[in-house]
Amino acid sequence: AELSDRVPLIWLSLAECTGCSESLTRTTTPDISTLLFEHVSLEYQEVLMAAAGQQAEENLENAMKAYKGKYLLAAEGAVPTANNGIYLTLGSKAETGMSLIKRVANDAAAVICVGTCSSFGGVQAARPNPTGAKSVGAVIDRPVINVAGCPPNPANITGTLMYYIMFGRLPALDMFNRPKWAYGARVHDNCERRGHFDAGEFVTEFGDDNAKQGYCLFKMGCKGPYTYNNCPTERFNAHTSWPVLAGHGCIGCSEPDFWDEMAYFEKP
Ligand code: SF4
Ligand code: SF4
Ligand code: F3S
Repeated sequence: AELSDRVPLIWLSLAECTGCSESLTRTTTPDISTLLFEHVSLEYQEVLMAAAGQQAEENLENAMKAYKGKYLLAAEGAVPTANNGIYLTLGSKAETGMSLIKRVANDAAAVICVGTCSSFGGVQAARPNPTGAKSVGAVIDRPVINVAGCPPNPANITGTLMYYIMFGRLPALDMFNRPKWAYGARVHDNCERRGHFDAGEFVTEFGDDNAKQGYCLFKMGCKGPYTYNNCPTERFNAHTSWPVLAGHGCIGCSEPDFWDEMAYFEKP
């Protein structure tokens, strides 16, 4: 596709672990090369771009000017706000992440928060949150779409981008601004262990006979009953598996404040 057919995408890395970028690269429908060569023009992405240093900084500024009002902004990571944002500085001018995200969000066509850190603060905002980390939505002055999860399923990232690219608007959102098509159902309601939950058949110790039978992990702390995400139906790594199938309960990673509200992860 010509560059003019592709939607410019700027992806900013704030206070994050790069797991969301890793997840993006594992997208299958479309795969990452089809996404990049046919559908988006990736103007800035710290993991994938060839440019470095000053050239990378210039690319970002140039893309913001050239595609003003037209580019999509994907934000990965929370925004440290304590002491005027000094706990995250980027680039040769040591601009704070707080300043950068406001600037880049201002001229974006839409702002997509990729991952629970940018959506809700995530691990950075967990108690005692010394850097005053906040979600992107709490820092910028416009609506956001939250593709939650730590990391989100690649299908949820790519699907949200593709929805915008194909329809020119954002999908329907739930009360936490998550796309309903991906976060509309409870993990518990599509879980393959659900029959065991309903029958009262539970794992009570990792590795016990019930675990070998694939019984329900609720008593091992599974938070699937309180979590909205499509992990059981979409699965990860090209639809291979997901946390509960692998034998550990869901820890609620797509829910606001799950580090504080759903810990300890191995207790009901
Ligand atoms: Fe990493 Fe999870 Fe934050 Fe993504 S949401 S940047 S995977 S900690
Ligand atoms: Fe629900 Fe978790 Fe049991 Fe699955 S393993 S049925 S999500 S409590
Ligand atoms: Fe996260 Fe639970 Fe899915 S921990 S990846 S929402 S199974």
